[in-house]
Amino acid sequence: MDVLQHADPDVFHAIQGEQTRQKYGLEMIASENYTSRAVMAAQGSVLTNKYAEGYPGRRYYGGCEFVDEVETQALNRAKQIFGGDHLNVQPHSGAQANMAVFLAALQPGDTILGLDLAHGGHLTHGMKLNFSGKYFKVASYGVTKDTHRIDFDQVAAQAREHKPKLVIAGASAYPRLFDFARFAEISKEVGALFMVDMAHIAGLVAAKLHPDPVPHADFVTSTTHKTLRGPRGGLVICKQDWAKPIDSAVFPGIQGGPLMHVIAAKAVAFGEALRPEFVAYQQQVIDNAKTLADELVRLGFPIVSGGTDNHLMLVDVFSKAGVGGKQAEKSLDAAGITVNKNMIPFDPRKPLDPSGVRIGTPALTTRGMKQAEMRQIAKWISDVLHRPADEELLSRVRGSVRELAEQFPVPAEA
Ligand SMILES: Cc1ncc(COP(=O)(O)O)c(C=O)c1O
Repeated sequence: MDVLQHADPDVFHAIQGEQTRQKYGLEMIASENYTSRAVMAAQGSVLTNKYAEGYPGRRYYGGCEFVDEVETQALNRAKQIFGGDHLNVQPHSGAQANMAVFLAALQPGDTILGLDLAHGGHLTHGMKLNFSGKYFKVASYGVTKDTHRIDFDQVAAQAREHKPKLVIAGASAYPRLFDFARFAEISKEVGALFMVDMAHIAGLVAAKLHPDPVPHADFVTSTTHKTLRGPRGGLVICKQDWAKPIDSAVFPGIQGGPLMHVIAAKAVAFGEALRPEFVAYQQQVIDNAKTLADELVRLGFPIVSGGTDNHLMLVDVFSKAGVGGKQAEKSLDAAGITVNKNMIPFDPRKPLDPSGVRIGTPALTTRGMKQAEMRQIAKWISDVLHRPADEELLSRVRGSVRELAEQFPVPAEA
């Protein structure tokens, strides 16, 4: 960073600001995490200089012997973690991993069936402004009103009615386990292909603390950040029949040169995910989420589905504290607790100011926080949500948050 400080003080200043924010605040956005310094070292390496269109051993550029090594390491380690017939670690992001499956398996105008965005689905599963909603017909399923769990009667009914070419399981805001076998059965019945987007839960899957989608799905896509704790990026796992179509969908279908520095960082993160400590970390992520959810319930906040099985929860802040998600996000941020506003299923309010917030534990768990800290944080969240405009309270909580944060260094400074 010294080099950057002298070469470009403006950018350096902005990065320093973000580093301070990450260090002294409580990062509770469910899709974020802190990578290790080793992951950052690989990502900040000379590999960013290299063009390597193609795949290991068959590139369109010379001088690829070392990047071939790196990509092969990433592929081998990912295979060791997740299994699967064929893997591709080149997608620049989770959205591009999904796009690659669409390009490989669908024709424009085909129908897809995914979880409704308002019930926890992702943009790339059929939102109308996204490529998935623009070029494909979209049918969706949701969760039941009473349990907030996936409504498999509706999945089956929608599948029978719309005859999708692709069924998608996976979510950005779903706190319960996925029954992949059941999705696969329904897909098979209607002759659809089956894709699982495990972006949020990939770390839990890697640690075998969530049911494994790989045996059930034709395609499994993921991000490599979030719970998996690698650099921002994507990956695709598929059955052997789809190996060639997937590889050619990623390159040259939707991408040019792979980001070899990011692929190196993926390899490092996959190496970390193969260590026993990683399982202990993921178990603590879940234990922390359960404790936080239980404590918020005890303090009177309704939690979607009554709790969580994974790393995140959706809290209905409006019905308990009368504060909208937008204000909740803002006031918590002012108190040093970063979350995001989120629709809850059957939300009577609008997406830009919904009834809920989504809270996750992966980042704080990486800092070493445990159940005791979660109970303290639940109390602060409750205090802030009951008096969201009380500047003195927000500043007091912010001070306490900082004291707590200082006891748990982020990896960048450890
Ligand atoms: C389920 C799911 N899939 C895909 C993505 C997209 O990942 P990216 O932001 O890397 O494009 C996300 C990101 O939030 C996600 O939650």
